[in-house]
Amino acid sequence: MANPKTRGDRQALQRTMDAILESSRAGKSQSKVSPQTSLFAPTMSSLPNGISELVFDVPTHRRLDDLVLSQHLRDNIDEFIYEFSHAALLREHSVEPRHTLLLIGPPGNGKTSLAEVIAAELSLPLLSVRYDAIVDSFLGETANRFRRLIDFVGTNPSVLFFDEFDAVGKDRGDSQETGEIKRVVSSLLVQLDRLPSHSVVICATNHPELLDKAVWRRFEVRVEVPLPGESELKAWFQKFEGSLGASAGIDAQEFADCMAGESMSEIEAFTLDVRRKLILSRGKLTPAHAVEEILKRWQRRLRKNVRNGEYGAELSAGPTAERAAERKTNKRTTTKRNLRAEEDAKGAE
Ligand SMILES: Nc1ncnc2c1ncn2[C@@H]1O[C@H](COP(=O)(O)OP(=O)(O)OP(=O)(O)O)[C@@H](O)[C@H]1O
Ligand SMILES: [Mg+2]
Repeated sequence: MANPKTRGDRQALQRTMDAILESSRAGKSQSKVSPQTSLFAPTMSSLPNGISELVFDVPTHRRLDDLVLSQHLRDNIDEFIYEFSHAALLREHSVEPRHTLLLIGPPGNGKTSLAEVIAAELSLPLLSVRYDAIVDSFLGETANRFRRLIDFVGTNPSVLFFDEFDAVGKDRGDSQETGEIKRVVSSLLVQLDRLPSHSVVICATNHPELLDKAVWRRFEVRVEVPLPGESELKAWFQKFEGSLGASAGIDAQEFADCMAGESMSEIEAFTLDVRRKLILSRGKLTPAHAVEEILKRWQRRLRKNVRNGEYGAELSAGPTAERAAERKTNKRTTTKRNLRAEEDAKGAE
């Protein structure tokens, strides 16, 4: 049985560490859900040898409010951040904050961005795991490297990020190798159990089906990061139009109809296309004209993609993707009727 004196010392040490961590974050983090303030997450001033090659110390440039998220997703992330930021209060009642988060969802909808902003909100460095440097042909060596990393993160509070977790098993077709990879992944995650809750672990994947139940169970918070819905698309549009400083020539509903089924990264690409067009026109185009031109280009691209059967993968990905792909073809061709009629009229001339 633990000596009560030692246990008391350990609790005192834990409280001191909490207080130091809280005060170091205080005045830095500006999370909406926390009284703390900060600009961006710090990067580690220098990572020691033996660790620096295992991770990328990723600078963070955005805050949670910079992302457009569904209310449900935002609530989940707010709660995670709030809980972690108030770890000391929880620990006073002998309760640990949840500190392991699994982000699941199709490509390009903000999993990596969320890891970045969570680190920024918590004012913790973001350490992104380099699988190429960690995974060795010998399982024992892989486990050693990972142990080293966990020991480091255990004493240096940070956000340890496993991006594209499924990539560990990428291009390994035959079942023997897949089995080997699964053992590597399990060995990595078993060691996560040793990680104290001063650090956060975030894992992102497009393929949750590759994670077995034992792995799945290790994440206390599991959140889906889906394609943007109508309200997210409208919210994006409003931010975008606001940043143009003039009318975009279409309304939020039209934008949402046009973009239904697209990923956030596609939406971002669209808005960047508009900006490029505007800048290069050197004032000859209004924002509304630039939006119109880029929309036309996107419509042509969409038709070409549909002809080439590029949505095959999406269609086989499940009913949601199927609906999204259907919406993409239907809505784009119906709601932009005016634009198309205009195009047709030009073609007929
Ligand atoms: N919710 C969002 N709000 C604002 N921008 C977003 C959002 N989601 C994605 N983006 C933008 O889209 C791009 C891709 O996002 P990100 O890399 O976070 O996606 P991901 O889910 O990690 O994709 P992948 O599965 O391919 O790794 C980024 O440039 C990011 O700025
Ligand atoms: Mg990513």
